[in-house]
Amino acid sequence: MESARKQGPVLLVNAGNCLFKRERIPARKVPEAREIARLMVDAYNEMGLAAMGVGAYDLSLGVDFLLDLARRARFPLLCANLTDPHGTPYFPGYRIVEAGGLRVALVGLIDERLKRGHIPGGRKIVVEPPLEAAARVIPRVAEERPDLIVVLTDMTERRLRLLARKGLPVDLVVGTSRRNQLSVPFRLKGTLIVALDRRGKTLGRVDVIPKEGGGYELRNSFVPLLQKRYPDHPRVGPMVQEALARIRSLQAQAIPEKAEGGEEGCGQEYVGAETCRRCHGRRYAHWRRTPHARAYETLRAKGKELDTDCLACHTVAFECSEGKPDRRSIERFPGVQCESCHGPGSAHAASEGRTPVEQGLVCAKCHTRERSDTERIEDRAAEACAETD
Ligand code: HEC
Ligand code: HEC
Ligand code: HEC
Ligand code: HEC
Repeated sequence: MESARKQGPVLLVNAGNCLFKRERIPARKVPEAREIARLMVDAYNEMGLAAMGVGAYDLSLGVDFLLDLARRARFPLLCANLTDPHGTPYFPGYRIVEAGGLRVALVGLIDERLKRGHIPGGRKIVVEPPLEAAARVIPRVAEERPDLIVVLTDMTERRLRLLARKGLPVDLVVGTSRRNQLSVPFRLKGTLIVALDRRGKTLGRVDVIPKEGGGYELRNSFVPLLQKRYPDHPRVGPMVQEALARIRSLQAQAIPEKAEGGEEGCGQEYVGAETCRRCHGRRYAHWRRTPHARAYETLRAKGKELDTDCLACHTVAFECSEGKPDRRSIERFPGVQCESCHGPGSAHAASEGRTPVEQGLVCAKCHTRERSDTERIEDRAAEACAETD
């Protein structure tokens, strides 16, 4: 961003769909979800965002919370087709801003596939089909003679094609797909359509170049944000650290010291790797050197050591406590241990090995396709568990 600003005037926009991880937020996650959404708005205030669209993933805590955020924001949230049951829009539909001597109209349109039942107070929300809204709003925007018209939306790619085919005078569509991946940009009837992944892994850049004889050429490129370490913004960096500290304390409050039935573990009790070590010293020695033994340290390094979204695969007892972890079991059973694969071992240990335990080939329950290269993960069993002197 800073380097682009050195090259020329910059207009920073966000197509929306970015404030929450999920469309339905479980009650225990609400306080931290609020904290993160506020942090994003504060950070965009610092970065000088010109406008943000509204997508399905921005409504997860209801329209009233989003309106609170809109008041906190020093930029408008735009949505031309989201109204209350009386037809009154919740947000402005468009805004014309100036950048580099150009008047750029920014228009927000939300996709109609909203899971209203998931949204707190969802009954209060009415969505006009976005293509109809576009046909209504874009000509009105065009009457104000902006140099460029840009649509910010979470519409599906199929609907984006239909929008472009309508032949409305839209120069650029910035989309955010539901799936967390980039789509290939395409041009249709004079409209450039660029869709970004939803979780901020990539910054899209569109250079606006004046054409001889009038008009502008738009050139798209992507800047991947995860490949390279960028230094923290001097003001946003500390804001993030403070918000993380607040989130950690919220998470700590949400996890009880000792949950009902916490570590009894699927009918048997977990005993922990130190107990297995007594009779399987060489297996233990090997395991200690694997990444599994350090899986909880990994969370700690990320400040996620009390995030219930992560504990299931980075600690032991969680999966048998029906998603209600307690502090005691997290502390007693950090990391991926023997019993993550072999199951709870109290009876086995007490019977000196005569009661069998599971064979351990349960890699896929944690090595899911989205987390890991699951291709033949089970062939790596010897890496995960073997005897070493
Ligand atoms: C008191 C000693 C003792 C303790 C403690 C112990 N084991 Fe064993 N274990 C044995 C003996 C003895 C055998 C059978 C002989 C062998 O394979 O070494 C055995 C066998 C096994 C086997 C292979 C046979 C089977 O049952 O499928 C696995 C896997 C195993 N133990 C895992 C564990 C795990 C995990 C722990 C900790 C939860 C553990 N053991 C704790 C003594 C123990
Ligand atoms: C309880 C969840 C869980 C189970 C079950 C599990 N893993 Fe893992 N595995 C993890 C986690 C979490 C990490 C990352 C550890 C870290 O670095 O913090 C990991 C890392 C690994 C790694 C190192 C990463 C790499 O690609 O080099 C290997 C290899 C691995 N696991 C193999 C296995 C195999 C083989 C099995 C089944 C026999 C298995 N795992 C079962 C959670 C699990
Ligand atoms: C469904 C199980 C699962 C959940 C849930 C999970 N992880 Fe993991 N995680 C894994 C596995 C498996 C690996 C090993 C991936 C590999 O290298 O193959 C891993 C690896 C990692 C690594 C990389 C370790 C390294 O140093 O290479 C980090 C960091 C991590 N997880 C953080 C998290 C955080 C933060 C969360 C919660 C937001 C989380 N994980 C939730 C299964 C999970
Ligand atoms: C990531 C999953 C995983 C972890 C963690 C793990 N094991 Fe295993 N373990 C396996 C698998 C899979 C096998 C079967 C290996 C094979 O077939 O080569 C196995 C085999 C064994 C065996 C021999 C079983 C037999 O039939 O001879 C013992 C004993 C054992 N593990 C004990 C342990 C102990 C003790 C620990 C902790 C110190 C541990 N394992 C950690 C997955 C795991």
